[in-house]
Amino acid sequence: MLGGPRFWAEMSTLSATVASTEVTARVRRAGILSVAAHLPDGILSNADLEAMVDTSDSWIMERTGIRLRHRAGAGETTSEMGVKAARRALEMAGSPKIDAIVVTTITPDTRFPSAACLIQRKLDMGGIPAFDINAACSGFTYGLIVSEGLIRSGVADHILLVAAESMTSLVDWEDRGTCVLFGDGAGAAVLGAVSEGGIVARRWGADGTKGHLIYYGPKPDDADSPDKLRMAGKGTFRMAVETFCDVTAGVCADAGWDPASIDHFVPHQANQRIIEAAAKRLGIPMERVVINITETGNTSSASIPLALAAAAAQGRFQRGDRVVVAAFGAGATWGAVAWEWDAV
Ligand code: UT7
Repeated sequence: MLGGPRFWAEMSTLSATVASTEVTARVRRAGILSVAAHLPDGILSNADLEAMVDTSDSWIMERTGIRLRHRAGAGETTSEMGVKAARRALEMAGSPKIDAIVVTTITPDTRFPSAACLIQRKLDMGGIPAFDINAACSGFTYGLIVSEGLIRSGVADHILLVAAESMTSLVDWEDRGTCVLFGDGAGAAVLGAVSEGGIVARRWGADGTKGHLIYYGPKPDDADSPDKLRMAGKGTFRMAVETFCDVTAGVCADAGWDPASIDHFVPHQANQRIIEAAAKRLGIPMERVVINITETGNTSSASIPLALAAAAAQGRFQRGDRVVVAAFGAGATWGAVAWEWDAV
């Protein structure tokens, strides 16, 4: 009976649970416990591209900073690459019990089931929630923010975040303005609750009116042309520099950090010139900027975890270092996350 002794006993248990969840939410922080990467063996060099379109190694190096990109072979799907990165990240984090799998991708193996469900099956983690996020090149930052929210609210203790992309499957191999830029690869991270350090600030956003700058579909002036990755290079370039600066300055302000004081700036790897222009405006010295685009090209949402994993393997991060990742992408979307390095 509503209002009877049993009802009030249950309500009191419930309010105690809510109160303790609120306390937990106040004190819980989410940390990034491990980051790992996988790049397919196939290599597409600038010399290979010279044989395909009217371009040159010197033009590509000078305008983009890219020397080579990796290309997945037949059967090497987005979920396959994601699983390889995920296994490494799980092992590095000490194989904690995972409560949810979040995957960021714009190139899932199939429209559905999601890449996250395919990865869950391959990892034999049946039962836990698994879903994809499509935020294009900003995907990893969106994935961090969603995962952090789940951990801070007490919904999950550990999350496997995978960013995997087969960008070469979307490219128009006759368009020299885009086909030289993109590559394939995957990164993965395990996030977990930490008592100190961890994520201290996050910013994200989107502006659907800028969707025409970079999209998958026919050419803007030819509705009968095939669906491929299309990009207005110069407009995207301008948007990229502005967005990097705004979102990075914003997340640093939220963290109470001067951008010039951060130890590592790890931007989405779209073009070395975009990164250099943004770092200069933000006053971040280039030796604190992680760049690996030379060996990967633009791998969309996988680019930040690939850069993080490469820099971590070089021993660049110390516990407590201030790290800021920032991205912009199709949509337009953007995101940035600031944290104190936790990964072992
Ligand atoms: O993840 C986010 C998505 N993407 C980006 O952030 C990319 C943003 N944009 C860019 O990175 C640059 O705009 C590009 C790298 C795409 C192009 O560089 P740019 O300095 O903006 O070159 P441009 O588009 O102004 O083209 C300059 C010239 C043109 O020739 P003309 O018209 O001056 O004769 C292009 O046709 O360079 C030509 N060009 C090329 N030449 C050799 C364009 N692509 C190539 C190429 N090789 N691959």
